[in-house]
Amino acid sequence: MTDVDQDLTPEQQVEAARKAFEQEFERFARFTGSSANLGALNLEEALAEQRGLAELRTRHLGKKSPLASSKKLIGRVEPEKRAAFGQLVQAAEQGLVNSLEQAELVLKNHVESARTARESIDVTLPGRLPRLGHRHPITLLRERIEDIFVALGYAIEDGREIETDFYNFAALNIPANHPARGEQDTFYTTDGFALRSQTSTVQIHAMQRRGVPVRMIAPGRVFRRDTPDPTHNPMFYQVEGLCVDRGITMAHLKGTVGEFLRRMFGPDTVTRFRPSYFPFTEPSAEFDFSCFKCKGSGCRICKNSGWIELGGSGMVHPNVLRTVGVDPQEFSGFAFGLGIDRMAGLMYELDDIRLLFENDTRFLEQFS
Ligand code: DAH
Repeated sequence: MTDVDQDLTPEQQVEAARKAFEQEFERFARFTGSSANLGALNLEEALAEQRGLAELRTRHLGKKSPLASSKKLIGRVEPEKRAAFGQLVQAAEQGLVNSLEQAELVLKNHVESARTARESIDVTLPGRLPRLGHRHPITLLRERIEDIFVALGYAIEDGREIETDFYNFAALNIPANHPARGEQDTFYTTDGFALRSQTSTVQIHAMQRRGVPVRMIAPGRVFRRDTPDPTHNPMFYQVEGLCVDRGITMAHLKGTVGEFLRRMFGPDTVTRFRPSYFPFTEPSAEFDFSCFKCKGSGCRICKNSGWIELGGSGMVHPNVLRTVGVDPQEFSGFAFGLGIDRMAGLMYELDDIRLLFENDTRFLEQFS
């Protein structure tokens, strides 16, 4: 393109440059004049045309264009014809510029309106609802339990899931080699930590941190070395309760657990306590409540007994109080612990407790 045909006169070369431009410009001609027609040209197509047009401009008006080269030929033109040649070149150049500018303007406007059209939204269209999440059934149940105990004047304690031997066992009156350790085998790290096997650990933390008197519940995850099956999972949820003050008796324990269960399952719920054994309470008792489904007459949920076993409880062992520096002569207390997932499993009649941990939305969505 930069080479100028030496056989042509300077005037002929200007004309050749103009012709060459016109030939190439033909495909952009539809963007000029009053009949400018862009039809259904979309944004991408219009942008491509814009780029094509910009290249065309460089090729025909740039420093290395045939027109620019022909300008340099003015020296070869006879002196008296130089003015005319200058005008010829100028006129040719102006012609190119006019054509280009027209097409550029039309395309620019088209690109702008195509952009606006694309970005505009139809406010009359119905909106798209975002998928809303909801609470997990265990969370729902935990919150109901928390609400009841907060109303009874209890604080909510947040424990830790990784514990030392002291909090999980020793401070709870379970010395090394005590058989209760076997029942609550958990997961240990090599440097002496363990995933807590019970929320009873929070009794110790709470009394160390708050001192006594204290009334608290501690919901949370616990871990045991267990093979998962429909009624077992190596991770599950418990709620621990602790009340220590002057003059606390077993009557307070029975009153509190009974009131909790009546608020949970209805005013005619009956609670019963059976003597039992836990290292950190003396005396100890397990508690059952009358089946919320059959009201005690016997059904599938309560295995025809009329009762549902829920948790363990008892009067805080003097050794536990002493461990955290509380004088058992002055203070006494009760404690209890129950399983949240077990309760959820019964209330929602789940055939398999593992449903609670598999996070299958087809299951979870039923609780929204
Ligand atoms: N920590 C016991 C367990 O996991 C449950 C329990 C029993 C908690 C008696 C208590 C209690 O606070 O007094 O099996």
